[in-house]
Amino acid sequence: MKRSTVNAIISEGDAFIRSFGYVMPPFAYWTPEDMKARRGTSAGVFNSRLGWDITDYGQGKFDELGLFLFTVRNGRFEDMKKGAGMLYAEKIMITRKDQLSPMHRHVIKAEDIINRGGGKLVLELFMPDAEGGIDPKAEVSVPVDGTIRKLPAGGLLKLDPGESVTLLPGVWHAFWAEGKDVLIGEVSTVNDDLTDNIFRDPIGRFSDIEEDEAPLHLLVSDYERWVG
Ligand SMILES: [Fe+2]
Repeated sequence: MKRSTVNAIISEGDAFIRSFGYVMPPFAYWTPEDMKARRGTSAGVFNSRLGWDITDYGQGKFDELGLFLFTVRNGRFEDMKKGAGMLYAEKIMITRKDQLSPMHRHVIKAEDIINRGGGKLVLELFMPDAEGGIDPKAEVSVPVDGTIRKLPAGGLLKLDPGESVTLLPGVWHAFWAEGKDVLIGEVSTVNDDLTDNIFRDPIGRFSDIEEDEAPLHLLVSDYERWVG
């Protein structure tokens, strides 16, 4: 994906998020130079991989296959092992109308996926089989705001604004927006996007960036190369 496209998606996404009254934290607006200057004093941003994450899953067709994410907070994996401490994470995301986030599951992370406004959020769901793969037959059973919803394997769960679903580790899910773009909230246990996304199809997790202009803001996947 071209950097100019990423910059435009960030600007449009920021306006969309603000239109719902959600305001991003100040570090969202740091320039790449600010980020370099704050590497030492704001280590938590970098170590917890907070910030912008515009992904086309490495496939170069963002409008059809992609997701806008911003990690607002993220806990510590060591605390998960201890069973006490900062065990939680939060993201704000935008899935565009008919833009697919591809079928995947998590090994560690439990997540609530919340429709925070816009169109309908549609999730395609499968339970895992004994090896963790997709069970093509098992009935899907997931809590929607505390009430169990049962669906056939591969059934579509449609969430209206305000509704949310809890996805425990192992549950396979793909999602997209129907009717209008959707602002999604994610509240989860500690998030590690480097290791905890298992995709059904062989795709990447981050975008390959073609540098055709200067970055407005760095992506999480830029930190290592740009900031160190
Ligand atoms: Fe997920």
